[in-house]
Amino acid sequence: MIKCKYSTEPSAFFLAEKTYNKDLETTPCRPRPNFHCVKTSLNPDVIKFFMNIIEQVRKFVESECKKPSSNYGYDPFLYHFIPVVEYSEKLAGKLGAEKEIVIIAAWLHDIGSIIHGRKDHHITSAKIAEEKLSEFGYTAEKIEKVRDCIISHRGSQQISPKTLEAKILIEADTLSAFNDITGLFQSALVYEKLSRKEAKDSVKKKLINKWKQLNLDESREIIKSKYKAVMLLLE
Ligand SMILES: [Fe+2]
Ligand SMILES: [Fe+2]
Repeated sequence: MIKCKYSTEPSAFFLAEKTYNKDLETTPCRPRPNFHCVKTSLNPDVIKFFMNIIEQVRKFVESECKKPSSNYGYDPFLYHFIPVVEYSEKLAGKLGAEKEIVIIAAWLHDIGSIIHGRKDHHITSAKIAEEKLSEFGYTAEKIEKVRDCIISHRGSQQISPKTLEAKILIEADTLSAFNDITGLFQSALVYEKLSRKEAKDSVKKKLINKWKQLNLDESREIIKSKYKAVMLLLE
């Protein structure tokens, strides 16, 4: 039985968090005024809640992408949200960031764009995240952390990231471009109506810019081989 170091009782929060954060065993459990004294045997719902929060968020995002009203259809779920979550989780593991915060922020960072359109989507996404996470019973302190990540995820808005988790989301967002080469070509050929030569040059230029936008060595390390391969293909 795992025990929280701040309580003589097994902590439901600690147990639940460990379920999806396998690295936690070596991480000291921080004081959590509302949760660390909860007894496992008396609060199975608490355990269930913490195991399911990421899944609840994922389901919400997927259902919004599936709706006919989704501004960009279902494709962003497969080609953007999933890669951003995967890169966020990977970077959070490498850099010792709070995985739960980064993953939830990654799922929700563009939800405003899906529901209301791209304009000001850092603001609309943050608002939706706040409302949805409160509805799921998430703590105010953690909602604020998720909010901070989402609000600063757009480089164009010049809002500096306040936390490591926020920096990771920006990097993961940039890295996801390398998972959607077909989408970049679709934009160039179908929406911008470029010729094949122009489209190839445009995609190459976009990916070079994405590479240059990366700020962390860990991100460059993750994507290096893919970047080299795509540059070779687009020569
Ligand atoms: Fe965005
Ligand atoms: Fe994004």
